[in-house]
Formats: sequence, structure tokens, C-alpha cells
Amino acid sequence: LLISFLWFSIFQAWPDDLLISTYPKSGTTWVAEIMEMIYQDGNLEKCQRAPTYERVPILELKWPGLSTETPAPRLIRTHLQLALLPQSFLDQKVKVIYVARNAKDVAVSYYNFYKMAKGHPEPGTWDNFLEKFMDGQVSFGSWYQHVQKWGELDGPINLLYLFYEDLKENRKREIRKILEFLGRSLSEEMVDHIVQHTSFKEMKKNPMANYTTIPIEIMDQNISPFMRKGIVGDWKSVFTVAQNEHFDAHYAKKMAGCKLKFRWQL
Ligand SMILES: *[C@@H]1O[C@H](CO)[C@@H](O)[C@H](O)[C@H]1NC(C)=O
Repeated sequence: LLISFLWFSIFQAWPDDLLISTYPKSGTTWVAEIMEMIYQDGNLEKCQRAPTYERVPILELKWPGLSTETPAPRLIRTHLQLALLPQSFLDQKVKVIYVARNAKDVAVSYYNFYKMAKGHPEPGTWDNFLEKFMDGQVSFGSWYQHVQKWGELDGPINLLYLFYEDLKENRKREIRKILEFLGRSLSEEMVDHIVQHTSFKEMKKNPMANYTTIPIEIMDQNISPFMRKGIVGDWKSVFTVAQNEHFDAHYAKKMAGCKLKFRWQL
């Protein structure tokens, strides 16, 4: 952990980098694929050249793909809390696309991810895990802090704040927002092509996006697939009434004064 901390804190950003930032389980791989399709002009062959985590490397993990040899413009992803973002990103005024997802679906997805991604401690029961999640005692810390602090960057730098639920509702509309943010334009056919390639169904069967390239000792997709359901409102089948009431009361306190409006269902 110390080594990776030292690594990313001295990371030198370039002005034409594009950073995709999300709390875990909020649509990172999804938006990474959309961005790749945009950057590669919809060329599927190019988008199949390597697994997603090499094409859009994870800042805090120092994948081999993320080095100064990577040609510009680079796409980079991170789950870091804003306070840990290397200063260089701010100095270079790097554009950021932030994706947020409602906390209840994130908690359920994170619980399943903890079980299958072996780097995590045993999550225990769902009830225990939910408490830990609410407490911010999970990898990458508090969801509440993450979604709020990153939102505050909008202004000091160029940040596009997207919601998983909006992407679910109308991916085409959100892709147009991204294009406008990037100052790029694509033909109608190309946008449709990207919409088609980035459906849940396509993502799930794409070996360069579905993490099938990761050994089973690290991610056991028999326990829970990396691309599990990809829906809004799955939390309803998991939260008990008591858990939901408890969560809502805590949520109201943690999010008091916050202008972000999350949707729990579509
Ligand atoms: C990932 O994609 C490959 C190729 O389509 C497929 O065989 C595999 O079942 C997928 N993995 C999961 C967990 O969906």
C-alpha cells in the first residue's frame, strides 16, 4: 500500500489526460468502454486490443499500461477519494468525468464484489457489511464523502458529473453530454454504434471488458460475476424494511445540505 501510495502521489498528469473517477461499483468499466469507443472512433478491433484495465489503467494500481510511454491522449481511471488525487491533475487542469450511483445499489454491488474479488477481507453478513459501508469502513472509504467532495471540484476544474441511473435511462443522451464536454462531434450512426456496443448485454460478453482475463484466484466469477445485473433498484431485493429505514435515517444526516439528487429506481 505504501509503495502504491508513493507511486500515485508523484504521478505526473498531462493536460490532455482524461480522468474517469467513480466510487467502486458505480459504472467505471462502463464509462471507460464508452470513452474508449469515442477515443478510438468506434473501432471495435482497437477496443479489443487489451483488457479494459490496460486500455484505461487504474491510477492507484500502476498497471503496466499507465506509464509515460502511453501515448497521449491518455484515459485513466481512479476510485481515490478527492483528497488523495495527485496535485498534478489539478495543476494541469485535467478534465474529469465523475460517475455516481445511488448508495443502496452500490452497497449491494460492493458486497457481492467483496465476496468474489479476493483482495478484500471477508465481508461477513450483509447486515454487517451494510453497517461498515455506512461507516465508510470499506475500501476507498466513505461513499458519502466521495460523491460530495468530487462534486465540489466542478468549477475549479472541468468536471462532468454523471449518474449511473441516467446512463441506464438514456445512454445516448449521456454520450452526447460526454461529447459536448470533450468538444468532439461524432455522426449519428457512430453514436448509435457506441450505444449498441456498450449495452449491459454486450459488455457482459465482451472478454476485454468482463474481467474474464483476471485469474480465478483474484476474481472468482463463479461466486459472483463482475458484470452481475447492471440494473437500478436491485437493492430492493436485498434490503430488509428495517435496514432500509435505518439506512434512510443515516443517509439524511450524511447528505444534509447536499444538492445531489440520487434516484433509487427508474
Ligand atoms: C466474458 O466473456 C466471455 C466471452 O464472451 C464469456 O465466455 C464469459 O462467459 C464472460 N464472462 C462472464 C463472467 O460473463
